[in-house]
Amino acid sequence: MLAFLCLILQLSNAIAYASGTRGKHIIILAGQSNMSGRGGVQNNTWDGVVPLQSQPNPTIFRLTADLSWIEARDPLHKDIDVNATCGLGPGMSFANRLLQRAPGLGPLGLVPCAVGGPRGTKSARESDTVNELDARMYGRRLINLFNNLRADLGSPLLPIVQVAITSGQGPYVETVRKAQLGIKLQKTRCVDSKGLPLLPDNLHLSTRAQVRLGRMLANAFLKVL
Ligand SMILES: *[C@@H]1O[C@H](CO)[C@@H](O)[C@H](O)[C@H]1NC(C)=O
Ligand SMILES: *[C@@H]1O[C@H](CO)[C@@H](O)[C@H](O)[C@H]1NC(C)=O
Ligand SMILES: *[C@@H]1O[C@H](CO)[C@@H](O)[C@H](O)[C@H]1NC(C)=O
Repeated sequence: MLAFLCLILQLSNAIAYASGTRGKHIIILAGQSNMSGRGGVQNNTWDGVVPLQSQPNPTIFRLTADLSWIEARDPLHKDIDVNATCGLGPGMSFANRLLQRAPGLGPLGLVPCAVGGPRGTKSARESDTVNELDARMYGRRLINLFNNLRADLGSPLLPIVQVAITSGQGPYVETVRKAQLGIKLQKTRCVDSKGLPLLPDNLHLSTRAQVRLGRMLANAFLKVL
C-alpha cells in the first residue's frame, strides 16, 4: 500500500482522456502539486495572474468536489487540493490549445484529481527519486498504474500523456526520467518538462511554464488520439 501511495504521490502529472456521455469528452487531470497548480503562488498566496492561453472558455467545464459541472477557471483544484494554496496549473492552457487545434472535440469536461504531497522530510522520504529501489521500480509501477486505471475505467486504450520530471529531491532523478521516457504502452506519450522554468523552490512550475506545458500536453495528446 505504501508503495502504491508513493507512486501516486510521485507521479508528477498525467492526463488521461475518455469518451464521456452526450458527446462530451472527459479529461482526467491526475498527479500532485504541479498538476494541482502552484504557478503564481508565493508565501501561500496566489497572485491571480491568468495568461491569455489559460483564460476560461464557455466550452470548457470542470467537475467540482460536489460533482457538479461549472465553467472551468484556475485554480482548477481549489476545492480538491484543499490543504494547499492552489494557483495556475496546465489544465486550462491544455484545454484551450486542444480546442484551438481540434474544435470538434468540445465541449470538454475536466476532472481535477491531483493532490500535492506532504511537505518536508516526510515527503522527501516518500519520493521515488530519493530511494534507489523505488527509482528502479518506477517504470514497472507506472505501467501497473496505467493498466489499472484503464481496467477500472473499462477503457483498455485510454490515451494517456505523462510528464517527465526535471528536478526532484535525492540522487535518482535520472533513473525516474529514463523510466518515464522509456514506457512502451499503446496510446501513451511522454512530454519532457526539461528546461521549463521552475519557481524559486526548484520543485514547482511557474505560471509561464504551466502555460507552455499545457500546450505541449495538448500537442502530444492529439498525436495519441
Ligand atoms: C515572501 O516572504 C519572504 C519572507 O517572509 C519575503 O522576504 C518575501 O518578500 C515574500 N515574497 C512575497 C512575494 O510576498
Ligand atoms: C487535509 O488535511 C486533513 C487533516 O490533516 C486530512 O485529513 C485530509 O485528508 C487532507 N485533505 C487533502 C485533500 O489533502
Ligand atoms: C514539478 O514539475 C517539475 C517539472 O516536471 C518536476 O521537475 C518537479 O519534480 C515537479 N515537482 C513535484 C513536487 O513533483
